[in-house]
Amino acid sequence: MQAKSLILLLVLVMCGTTFSFGKVNKKSAPWEKDEKMEKFVNDLLAKMTLEEKLGQLTLFSSSWDITGPITNNNYVEDVKKGKVGAIFNAYSADFTYRLQKENIENTRLGIPLLFGYDVIHGHWTTFPIPLAESCSWDLEWIEKSARIAAIEATSEGLHWTFAPMVDIARDPRWGRIAEGAGEDIYLGCEIAKARVNGFQGDDLSKNNTMLACAKHYAAYGVAQAGRDYSTVDISNRELWGTYMPPFKAALNAGVATFMTSFNELDGTPCTGNDYLLDDVLRKKWGFDGFVVTDYTSIMEMTEHGNVKDKKEAGEVAINAGVDMDMQSGIFNDYLPKSVEEGKVLESRIDQAVIQILKMKYRLGLFEDPFRYSNVKRAKKTLMKPEFIEASRELAKRSIVLLKNENQVLPLNKDIKKLALIGPYVKNRRDLVGTWSGAGKWEKAVTVYEGIEKAVSKNTEILYAEGSKLFGDDKSGFEKAIATAEKADAVVLLVGEPHDWSGEAASRTNLELPGVQPELVKEIVKTGKPVIMVMMNGRPLTIDWEAENVPAIVEAWHLGVQAGPAIADVLFGDYNPSAKLTVTFPRSVGQIPIYYNMKHTGRPMDPNQKFTSKYLDSPNTPLYPFGYGLSYTKFDYSNIQLDKTSMGVNGQITVKVTVTNSGKYDGEEVVQLYIQDLVGSVTRPVKELKHFEKLFIAKGESKVIEFKITAEDLAFYRKDMSYGVEAGDFKIFVGTNSVDVKEASFRLTQSSILPEK
Ligand code: NOJ
Repeated sequence: MQAKSLILLLVLVMCGTTFSFGKVNKKSAPWEKDEKMEKFVNDLLAKMTLEEKLGQLTLFSSSWDITGPITNNNYVEDVKKGKVGAIFNAYSADFTYRLQKENIENTRLGIPLLFGYDVIHGHWTTFPIPLAESCSWDLEWIEKSARIAAIEATSEGLHWTFAPMVDIARDPRWGRIAEGAGEDIYLGCEIAKARVNGFQGDDLSKNNTMLACAKHYAAYGVAQAGRDYSTVDISNRELWGTYMPPFKAALNAGVATFMTSFNELDGTPCTGNDYLLDDVLRKKWGFDGFVVTDYTSIMEMTEHGNVKDKKEAGEVAINAGVDMDMQSGIFNDYLPKSVEEGKVLESRIDQAVIQILKMKYRLGLFEDPFRYSNVKRAKKTLMKPEFIEASRELAKRSIVLLKNENQVLPLNKDIKKLALIGPYVKNRRDLVGTWSGAGKWEKAVTVYEGIEKAVSKNTEILYAEGSKLFGDDKSGFEKAIATAEKADAVVLLVGEPHDWSGEAASRTNLELPGVQPELVKEIVKTGKPVIMVMMNGRPLTIDWEAENVPAIVEAWHLGVQAGPAIADVLFGDYNPSAKLTVTFPRSVGQIPIYYNMKHTGRPMDPNQKFTSKYLDSPNTPLYPFGYGLSYTKFDYSNIQLDKTSMGVNGQITVKVTVTNSGKYDGEEVVQLYIQDLVGSVTRPVKELKHFEKLFIAKGESKVIEFKITAEDLAFYRKDMSYGVEAGDFKIFVGTNSVDVKEASFRLTQSSILPEK
């Protein structure tokens, strides 16, 4: 066996594999034609029995970590019998090495196992949750964070991450909003590419790059009522206009794998959806990687009710275009019979095997199945100081300043008495947030520790926990109030537990959990300058707080360096620059609420009864998309277009001057939105089309230039063709989606355009 004969090489490799931080390329396209690979894979396929082929299509969880219902306790035995092609929820150089060894030594063909895991926002070194990272609008840093995650994860034997999640999410009740890049399509696409590039690097054959996985295909974020795993029912236009683009962007970036979603789409569960998997992904988009299901989602089709039993579920899934079965074991158990009955063609199984073997080949696993599992390398790699520093850097860039009345912030490091109050002051466990997988939460630096290190020797820190994160115990209130009363300022640290967002963590009430809202009220009553810092995985409804608390900082779940990063912002060592990538509603009743809605035929008019509005709430959000304050002030002026009309091949240059008129140097995210005034179908009130994050020193002005081309104006028209329509457009440039300067132009021609 090629693989077996190369085991010897392992000894050499174990002596130490070198790696570098790696050059991050903007494009990773690992699947150019490779005849040597084709021949190798076809020769191997020719030697395989049907059972061995189905083994390659089977992914089982190890018991190392648990991310769903346990359905198979015999994975080691199954590996030895050649019934498994890939394992997830197993990591560490040593463990993956041993399992790979069992596989190579016991199976007839010694085809290497592929090790996958949910490396979502860092591996050992946790970074901010993806939603937080997206608020940095910093594509370079987001890519770097994925790169570092890959360097760490691959040193522990992992070849494949189940990330990025590219689901657009507009319902904060849905806990998995924490895992994505927010509500916007354009930003979602840019971040999807950055994450794929970061994980996959510039060359998959290097042992510090890993396969990425675009998930959950498709429209998983539109679960009715925000309840995880619930039914999805959207129009085709909505699917293509809003939910598909980030998947296509990931594919364009060369993503190696796709994961099907749990939900149904137009009555067919996505795991058995031949339209999504075959018509679109393979035929229309030409995807050349492999498709894995989500956890037991083949089996779950029996619950959805589109198949009568597990056997039929397997047939529907493989025939629709699924290549790998995560955790159901149905391909192994039922497909031999289905092939015998002619319900599944062996040639379809062969196609799936080929896609998987090719990925193993590209990763170099046939040359050396153990090349990722290197204890020495892991020791040198995991939680390196530079990775921890990078986590702090991205964490501070992800913190959104929501309110800063009377410039309460930044705090002076010489402040005499500073009270730290709330369940998050000394909390370590929850800082890393949802899906922290292998993340070492024990090594997270608390806010107390971060602040203690930041303040001067003259500062006395007072502390009271006040309450727990949830539950109804108010016994700590008294001490908390007394502590606040003694202080010159109070930092109130509140939020959601780490597992109140993420998978299976939907909520109907989006207030701060437990008695925290009451704690906030009590502390505000003391009349002290209060700075509320929130650590949570989704937008929360903080209407009262927004009105009454002098300063509010949205810190999200920031990862291992949460404490120092929060201190950096509170004391002005870092001037906050992050902007919300998801709208904050005033109340749950406003959901879904997002910035790029349609007008309706009766747009809101406060003086007209029969218009689209509420009796008990404004339509406007509490904080809009793109919103976030700085300690300095950015003024926008002189929005100029070099022309006021263009043809389909033309280009308009938009210039705007941004002046830092405040007292601090700072970074600003300059945002450009476009509105198509009249379309063959109704168009959103505005859509983000470009942005630039840039540094402007205090007192300085910069001219920012954007180029508008027809590509920025294209959409799925009435007949679902993709293209532009002649007519008038508005351009909005500003500091968020609401505070904008306006200009307009005309497109003189209609045309079909290639889809992006
Ligand atoms: C279920 C989740 O939906 C998916 O995102 C994850 O990758 C798998 N479980 C594996 O843990």
